[in-house]
Amino acid sequence: MTIPSAGPREIARVCSILAAGRVLVLTGAGISAESGVPVFRGPEGVWKRHRPEELATPAAFARDPRLVWEWYAWRRETVGGCRPNAAHRALARWQRGRPGRRVVTQNVDGLHLLALAPKGAGLDRLDPEDRPLELHGSLFRTRCTGCDLRRPDRSTIDATDESTLPRCGECGALLRPDVVWFGEPLDGRALETALGLAESAEAVLVVGTSGVVQPAASIATAATRSGAPLVEVNPESTPLTPHATVSLRAGAAATLPEILDTPS
Ligand code: OAD
Repeated sequence: MTIPSAGPREIARVCSILAAGRVLVLTGAGISAESGVPVFRGPEGVWKRHRPEELATPAAFARDPRLVWEWYAWRRETVGGCRPNAAHRALARWQRGRPGRRVVTQNVDGLHLLALAPKGAGLDRLDPEDRPLELHGSLFRTRCTGCDLRRPDRSTIDATDESTLPRCGECGALLRPDVVWFGEPLDGRALETALGLAESAEAVLVVGTSGVVQPAASIATAATRSGAPLVEVNPESTPLTPHATVSLRAGAAATLPEILDTPS
């Protein structure tokens, strides 16, 4: 597929919108598409080949934790080999050290974090305000089904049978991926923080999301209700397009360096 690019007049308009002091950025799977991470919807999407109710629900995990872990082990392995692209890197340069600029992501691929700390170096020293808010969790964190302990985890998962699945070092219960599954609520604190950022945002940039999953999409519209202009970067139109002040029908990797790497 040829990814369209945006024109100079639209780029200039977007740069002036994004010069605001408090800018919220909401990202989705499309920002990582050019890193080789498959999107969820559309003809090449993950949910075309796999049924979410068999792999990404609490009921599926209760029924067959081995099968669910096998799928997540495969995703950790394939996504773990992907690197941040020019869009993640431009965002990281633009927001680092500027607390008014916050990234809220639906992605579980960890690529925003990796762009802030290449090779994982210094991740633990990152300023909390520089960190992306990972609304749907991360493939590279586990969570204990017993004591709820959550921690970063990039180990190789052995899903040969139930006895080889990862267990909690503290209480011995089964670990699960620390991602939000269908039918589960988002982490209340993360959602509250994101909605707070939306309410105080002076501009919102939405990159690479189909805008159909709630409550994530409503974070962008909450910002527009408070009067913030919305810029959308997506080769396709979405349910968020009618709320957009400017829609750049373009790919993220070419566009984000153009709109973010300008002196403000
Ligand atoms: P989707 O797969 O629903 O949408 C991806 C969007 O990215 C589409 O609108 C594409 O047009 C756009 N896109 C594709 N290539 C792009 C590119 N190079 N640059 C910019 N945009 C591009 O992914 P999400 O909206 O992130 O939830 O999906 C939301 C949630 O649904 C995910 O977090 C996941 C999924 O089920 C959970 O797993 C809880």
